Amino acid sequence: MAAEWTAEVAFDGEQGQEVERIKELLAVRMKDARKRHIHSLGVASCAAALAQAYGVDPYLATVAGLIHDWDKVISDEELVARALHYGIEIAGPPALAAPLLHGMVAAYELPELFPELPAEVFQAVARHTVGSCDMTPLDMVVFIADAIEPGRRGDYADRLRSQVGEISLEELFFSCFSQGLVYVLQTGRYLYPTATEIYNHYALQRSEKKGHA
Ligand SMILES: [Fe+2]
Ligand SMILES: [Fe+2]
Repeated sequence: MAAEWTAEVAFDGEQGQEVERIKELLAVRMKDARKRHIHSLGVASCAAALAQAYGVDPYLATVAGLIHDWDKVISDEELVARALHYGIEIAGPPALAAPLLHGMVAAYELPELFPELPAEVFQAVARHTVGSCDMTPLDMVVFIADAIEPGRRGDYADRLRSQVGEISLEELFFSCFSQGLVYVLQTGRYLYPTATEIYNHYALQRSEKKGHA
């Protein structure tokens, strides 16, 4: 089995206090969602490890990992209602897109709860479900950690784990994103309309890098 990618980074001073405070609030938020709570802690420690492997700030990766599914505990109906209220552009039918909205909705609500955190953390939260054409290294770290935290089992997660540190962060993200697409297609799930655009954006970028464009 491929190595697990987790890191318990001991943060000093204010950062350490902030991580502890967020963990306490997360435990309350997810008191009735045990699996989601464990998953969130797993994403945080996996994001910290990926951040260290790829030269991203492990503190930002940790806090983004902790809060990335903050609004996953809300019902689909409520997520759609909140998304419409915030003026979030929903691509495709809202009911089908609902499971993907928790990232974007949380990005509107979390700054009020955690005003001390920088905007890039909330952007990573917003993008962890659907991605974007201009993913930052932090966005990629959180997106990948969501797919390979220790609770994620199966060949797909194992293959990605074995590639950490062996390929660039961009390549790892592309691999993660495209495998996610394959899963959506194979299981007959709804494909969020922007996915093909994002896939093509990175596929083109790769081919240009290789000089085959
Ligand atoms: Fe999520
Ligand atoms: Fe998640």
